[in-house]
Amino acid sequence: MAAEITRVGVVGLGTMGAGIAEVFARAGLNVVGVERDDAALAAGQGHLRSSTDRAVGRGKLTEGEQAELIGRVRFTTALDDLAGVDLVVEAVPERLDLKRELFGRLDAVVGPDAVLATNTSSLSVTAISAAVSRPERVVGLHFFNPAPVQALVEVVSTVVTSPGVVAAVTELARRLGKTPVACGDRAGFVTNALLFGYLNRAAVMVETGHAAREDIDAAMTAGCGYPMGPVALLDLIGLDTAHEILVTMYRQGGDRLHSPAPVLGQLVALGMLGRKTGRGFYDYASASGPAAP
Ligand code: 3HC
Repeated sequence: MAAEITRVGVVGLGTMGAGIAEVFARAGLNVVGVERDDAALAAGQGHLRSSTDRAVGRGKLTEGEQAELIGRVRFTTALDDLAGVDLVVEAVPERLDLKRELFGRLDAVVGPDAVLATNTSSLSVTAISAAVSRPERVVGLHFFNPAPVQALVEVVSTVVTSPGVVAAVTELARRLGKTPVACGDRAGFVTNALLFGYLNRAAVMVETGHAAREDIDAAMTAGCGYPMGPVALLDLIGLDTAHEILVTMYRQGGDRLHSPAPVLGQLVALGMLGRKTGRGFYDYASASGPAAP
C-alpha cells in the first residue's frame, strides 16, 4: 500500500497555485504555500481570499470556515519551510529552465521520501525530473482552471516514476474529491492535447473575421453544451498561458493546429492577458460585463 500523503506544499501561488492550495486546505490538509517575494505572496493570499469570498457570498462557506481554511495555509517566501512535507506541487510559470532550477533546489530541501509533483500544462515531466536525484519520485499532477471547481486531475508518469508514487498521488486526488486520470508524459497529456487545437482554431476564427467572438462562444455553448465558449475559455486560462502552451506543443509535436494564432501573441504583447488583467478578447472592466474590445 502507498504511504499516505498528509503534509503538502505548493510553490508558486498564481491563479493555479493558489487554487491548488485552496483545494488542499478545503480537504483539511495543512499547506505550506511558497512564493518568491512578499508582493507575490500577498497576491497569492489575495487569490485565496477572493476565491473563498465567492463561496461565502454564495452561502457555501461561513466566515468562520473561511478563516479556518485560510489558516491552514502557511504563507512563506522560504523554500526551506518545505522541509517536512510529503508532497510538493510546483506551479511556477511554464518555463523549463525555471522549473528545473526549482526542482534542483527542492531536491535538497525536502526529505528523501517526499514526492515532487509538477502542475506543468505542456512541458516534459521527464525533462523536469532529470534535474533531481530522485526522478522515480517525480510525477505530473495537472489541475484545471478554476482548480477549486474542475474535478479533473491528470496524473502523469514518466518511464521511471515509481508505481507507489502514482498510487499515493492518485489516492490523494480522490481524497481531494477530484477525478484522477492516468497518462504518460506526452505533449499536452490528454486534455490539453485535445483542447488546445480547438482553442487555437477559435482564436484564428476571431482574427480572420470568420464570426464574432460572442457568436463563436454561443455556438459552442448552445450548440454543443460546453459550459463556456472557446474565446471566453482562452480569457479564463490566460492568453499568456495559452500562448506558452501552444508554443510548447507546436515545438514538441509540429502539428500546425498548435501554431499559435498571431492575435494571441499580439494581445499578450499589449498586456491583455484575459480575466486576470481585466481585458483579453473580452473587456471585463466594463460596467455592462464582458464586451468585445
Ligand atoms: N474560483 C473559484 N470558484 C469558482 C471560480 C473561480 N475562479 N469560478 C467559478 N467558481 C465556482 C462558483 O463559486 C460556483 O460554485 P458553487 O457551485 O459551489 O456555488 C461554481 O464555480 C459555478 O460558478 P458560476 O455559477 O459563477 O459560473 P458557471 O456556472 O458559469 O461556471 C465555470 C463557471 C466553472 C468557470 C464554468 O463555466 C466552466 O466549467 N468553464 C470551463 C472551464 C474549463 O474548461 N477549464 C479548463 C481549462 S483548461 C486548463 O485549465 C488546463 C491548463 O493547463 C491551462
